[in-house]
Amino acid sequence: MKENITILGIESSCDETSVAVVRNGREVLSNEISSQIAIHEKFGGVVPEIASRNHVEAISNVTKKALKDANCTLQEIDAIACTYGPGLVGALLVGVSYAKALSYAIHKPLVGTNHLEGHIAANYITHKDLKPPFLCLVISGGHTHLIHIKDYKEYEILGKTKDDAIGEAFDKVARVIGLGYPGGPKVDKLAKEGQANILLPKTHFENLDFSFSGIKTAVINLHHKQPDVNKADLCASFEKTVTDILIDNTLKAAKMLNIHTITLAGGVSANTYIRQRFMELEETKGMKVYYPEPVLCTDNGAMIASAGYYNYINGIESDLELNAIPNLKIGEK
Ligand code: KG4
Ligand code: ZN
Repeated sequence: MKENITILGIESSCDETSVAVVRNGREVLSNEISSQIAIHEKFGGVVPEIASRNHVEAISNVTKKALKDANCTLQEIDAIACTYGPGLVGALLVGVSYAKALSYAIHKPLVGTNHLEGHIAANYITHKDLKPPFLCLVISGGHTHLIHIKDYKEYEILGKTKDDAIGEAFDKVARVIGLGYPGGPKVDKLAKEGQANILLPKTHFENLDFSFSGIKTAVINLHHKQPDVNKADLCASFEKTVTDILIDNTLKAAKMLNIHTITLAGGVSANTYIRQRFMELEETKGMKVYYPEPVLCTDNGAMIASAGYYNYINGIESDLELNAIPNLKIGEK
């Protein structure tokens, strides 16, 4: 194996077209992100067909910019990693097709990469010393998974949401109280001005699964019944309640497996309150807590290049039959 492995990472699973160049899975040489937030904002959410079309328009220029910023030529790339799932099928297909064409044209290996593995790998970029085993709480717009990362390519799902993803709940609450899209960052900001003084329901299971539809509905009902409820208090109470649930399950898993390293990943892990509450576990519970820098929490090409690197050095490559798999699971091909 060469001393330095340089991976081009392509991400297009939702509403960000992003391409990055990453060395040895940890060193970001460039991470170009073209966000479609402004386009989807007026619809109150991502419109899949529009997302696909915008990926098509953006992907060539985003790739050129990523290579230029990294001061890297296509010939210096060792492999091309692309997200092939989970995500919106039409959006994924743009990145997959582009990566396949590029791989064929420049005779470099293609490495299909799981989006969730990408979110986890974002932690390897921010924390150069982080190595498995550890627990990872992947909290995003599409997922809420508590995962035991046994090794770089060995995962065990300990618990996941039975209904809404936590990010969906954030976005829905924001929409109902009129904060707009995407709701997570807006709830984060407004909650800082409020008090967590409203009692909201917590759903717990015997196992480590999650459910957020109950709290989402409770917030919607409360807002309809009491339209003058203080929005900042509601946001603070919502954040506190969901964070309590996340922490309870994560600590249960940590105790069960005798693991003291917890990582957060995914768009919702950019939330300042959630980060602070998990960070407190270092003091109160003797845990070591890691999370990616904010730009690496939400969708980006660098996390795909990092996860792609661990695929590549473990001999995992794809052929030109690679297809988008919208419901791709973690730990499965
Ligand atoms: O990981 P991501 O970019 O896309 C998916 O893979 O789903 O996550 C997007 C989600 C959205 O639901 C967005 O509202 C949420 O992450 N999000 C946040 C924050 N920033 C993004 N949620 C809470 N607080 C934030 N600061
Ligand atoms: Zn994501």
